[in-house]
Amino acid sequence: MIKNWLNESNNTVVFTGAGMSTESGLPDFRSANQGLWKQKDPSKIASTDALNHNVEEFIDFYRTRVLSVKDYKPHKGHHILADWEKQNRIQTIITQNVDGFHQKAGSQNVAELHGTLTKLHCQSCGKEYNSDEYVNQEYYCGCGGILRPSIVLFGETLPQDAFQFALSEAEKADLFIVLGSSLSVTPANQFPLIAKNNGARLVIVNKEPTELDMYADQVIHGRDIGAVLEEWNH
Ligand code: APR
Repeated sequence: MIKNWLNESNNTVVFTGAGMSTESGLPDFRSANQGLWKQKDPSKIASTDALNHNVEEFIDFYRTRVLSVKDYKPHKGHHILADWEKQNRIQTIITQNVDGFHQKAGSQNVAELHGTLTKLHCQSCGKEYNSDEYVNQEYYCGCGGILRPSIVLFGETLPQDAFQFALSEAEKADLFIVLGSSLSVTPANQFPLIAKNNGARLVIVNKEPTELDMYADQVIHGRDIGAVLEEWNH
């Protein structure tokens, strides 16, 4: 049935979370067996407070993540979504992920709600750097300020351009497909509801139950996203 919805839809938006990249080898945050936040308290590592008062651990954690997004690569599921965009089968991807894998796989219409690990910027003067600085263990700007990943830390607001773009796409959608998110973080988890309230069909593909399953028209639990997308690709 979902395949028919995909073929019938004129405006399909795909919304991805960390579960989209686990098949590439990157851990997610909250799943029972591998979530990063099962081992670390995000407020102590992924916050501006950590950047200001726990900088050694902050740098260590994010250098590891910068290296991992350089070492791993998009999997088949990312490439299928990029192909569907080219075939006009989907229009937009809204992602909470910061790994840049959708763009690496060839997707162009991507709203990165939580920023990207592929860039750094100076916490003091805002100057932008490439994430290679972290690879080369360069952690300071010429102005003396500390370099941090250009991602949204807990306690920070989402980038307005990505947020507004995602909002307009969600409002226009007639099919909104969630792939690999627990839907537990606001305001990102509002987008499936915005689409639904504007008349879209809502599909959620997630190994475990999510906070918005009761609003979905179709839910697929317990299956890998890669396999589900392969199935819809024929
Ligand atoms: N196939 C299907 N679902 C999967 C797969 C897979 N291969 N791998 C993991 N999942 C599911 C997990 O069951 C989990 O419920 O993906 C979901 C990922 O949820 P989270 O780990 O909470 O990740 P996400 O929803 O993206 O988190 C949102 O929280 O920490 C912040 O900024 C961070 O963007 C992140 C935000």
